[in-house]
Amino acid sequence: MAESKPLQGSVGPMVDPFGRSIDYLRVSVTDRCDFRCTYCMSEHMTFMPKQDLLTLEELARLCSAFIEKGVKRIRLTGGEPLVRKNIMFLVERLGERIGRGLNELTLTTNGSQLARYAKELYAAGVRRINVSLDTLDPDRFRAITRWGDFDKVMSGISAAQDAGLKIKLNTVALKDFNESEIPSMIRFAHGRGMDLTLIETMPMGEIEEDRTDQYLPLSQLRTRLESEFSLKDLPFRTGGPARYVEVLETGGKLGFITPMTHNFCESCNRVRLTCSGTLYMCLGQEDAADLRSVLRASDEDDLLFKAIDEAILRKPKGHDFIIDRQHRRPAVGRHMSVTGG
Ligand code: 5AD
Ligand code: SF4
Repeated sequence: MAESKPLQGSVGPMVDPFGRSIDYLRVSVTDRCDFRCTYCMSEHMTFMPKQDLLTLEELARLCSAFIEKGVKRIRLTGGEPLVRKNIMFLVERLGERIGRGLNELTLTTNGSQLARYAKELYAAGVRRINVSLDTLDPDRFRAITRWGDFDKVMSGISAAQDAGLKIKLNTVALKDFNESEIPSMIRFAHGRGMDLTLIETMPMGEIEEDRTDQYLPLSQLRTRLESEFSLKDLPFRTGGPARYVEVLETGGKLGFITPMTHNFCESCNRVRLTCSGTLYMCLGQEDAADLRSVLRASDEDDLLFKAIDEAILRKPKGHDFIIDRQHRRPAVGRHMSVTGG
């Protein structure tokens, strides 16, 4: 009698049940952060126990497996990726894969440690970074980040530009907070050669504040911006959720990420890995695959490929974000800092 062979994982491209090719991996290297942005975290966060963390070697091995599986772009996020001890080890390891499987390595950061790391990041092959910045007013900056130092972030941005890193600013649009400041943020960003992307706040994780009070639909904001700027729709897409316009007055690019008012899932090309080796197939769903135990079970990558294939088959069609006005509960229990957006 023929023995049935165990299912082998395969190298090669990942395609989900909806025909979407997955070639982009986001890796949250730590869920910790040196800020406590009010829409993101509660002031007294419980972080992952240290023993659940993958080592940077393990993260590098997982990323390599994903590169074998067709991942072309990797973005390191957090929490704040640059507060992870010895993070340059991972950046350098992944940097060595650029042009050898990987097309691009990027980073999303709050900017607090950039002055220290900018040159090393560039030397390791990073060319573009996203910096999260929600206001240009130092007092408001302190209020929204609770712990952040505005001047440090500004010097971080300058250091990054001096080192040759191209920056995109990410700004979460918050009602009654930075709404009126967006035009000056556009002028600031574009005046310094940076793109700016506006993001709607998503209901992820318990926070002290009420998200219905913070939520600002970008469709409204766009209408208001159009009384001040001429916005020209651009066909330009990154495969991501942002839609871009050119601001004719500044010549710069402005992006809109509108998970709440438009579903941006049809063209989703990504999955998200956490620092404990959990793979989330969707930012807005709870389902996840545990890759840590698979990784630790064997030094061979076969089982890992198989686990990744199985996870991709469970990638859902889209998220279920709704602002639940009645129960005021987040749509997913984990905070953004677990997966890094
Ligand atoms: N909704 C939308 N954006 C968020 N971010 C953090 N938490 C949320 C949330 N609940 C943003 C950060 C950063 C990016 C990684 O995600 O400001 O720009
Ligand atoms: Fe940290 Fe970013 Fe969350 Fe702010 S939004 S607390 S900088 S992870």
